[in-house]
Amino acid sequence: MTLMQSEEKAPAKLAKVPQHVAIIMDGNGRWAKQRGLPRTEGHRHGVENLRRVLRACVQEGVKVLTIYAFSTENWARPRYEVDALMRLLEVFLGRELDELDKEGVQIRHIGETSGVPPRLQKKINDATTRTRHNDSLILNVAFNYGGRKEIVEAVKHIIREGIPADNVTEELISRYMYTGDLPDPDLIIRTSGELRVSNFLIWQGSYSEYYVTPTLWPDFDQNEFHKALETYVLRKRRFGMTDEQLEAEQK
Ligand code: IPE
Ligand code: IPE
Ligand code: MG
Repeated sequence: MTLMQSEEKAPAKLAKVPQHVAIIMDGNGRWAKQRGLPRTEGHRHGVENLRRVLRACVQEGVKVLTIYAFSTENWARPRYEVDALMRLLEVFLGRELDELDKEGVQIRHIGETSGVPPRLQKKINDATTRTRHNDSLILNVAFNYGGRKEIVEAVKHIIREGIPADNVTEELISRYMYTGDLPDPDLIIRTSGELRVSNFLIWQGSYSEYYVTPTLWPDFDQNEFHKALETYVLRKRRFGMTDEQLEAEQK
């Protein structure tokens, strides 16, 4: 079975599909602990699950998927776990690249490369270069990513280019983020029940809808993903307006 073929029947069509979905893939460690397995096994199953969710995105018509795979804070974890997470991304890129490319997935990396082992950096580079003209789905891999770090880097970049203070606008700052040319996420999903942002897309997520589920990431399947999108359809995105204004706009 290829990556994009589903073993399940296609889910019911939604009235409104978020263009950009971002996911904090949390709970791998707890998933493993519940089974008496090492945390790294949880991460391995987490990567497997990514295949399912990618497939779901293509089926549902999501155009951009951003996944939080490794935060700038995750360096604090035990060395063996950090190494395992690096290796897993390397294996994922090695194993899935042909398939992802064939299916038209454009792979991007958001985050810092410094500190990332050179071999993995090369794999990331190869994957992003090879898939850069694909357009069925943009897969943004947030790896060695931190929202505050991203803002710091954007500010430095703006200053280095000598942009006058009066020209600094919200739109300009958005363009200097790693996600410069992409729409802000419409929906941010966090698995495993934690009610926090953990330094993820803190600029871009200022008006995103949040969906938190107790389901642990390795168990977050196609049905769970569809449920999250169904919830999104019911959300009223007011962007500061009143209900009445919103209704008038939609007419
Ligand atoms: C998410 O699962 C994966 C990463 C942060 C890399 P965790 O490893 O955080 O799992 P829990 O939160 O300990 O269950
Ligand atoms: C956020 O999860 C980072 C990723 C999913 C990669 P964490 O598990 O690291 O978040 P905290 O530390 O519980 O906030
Ligand atoms: Mg966690």
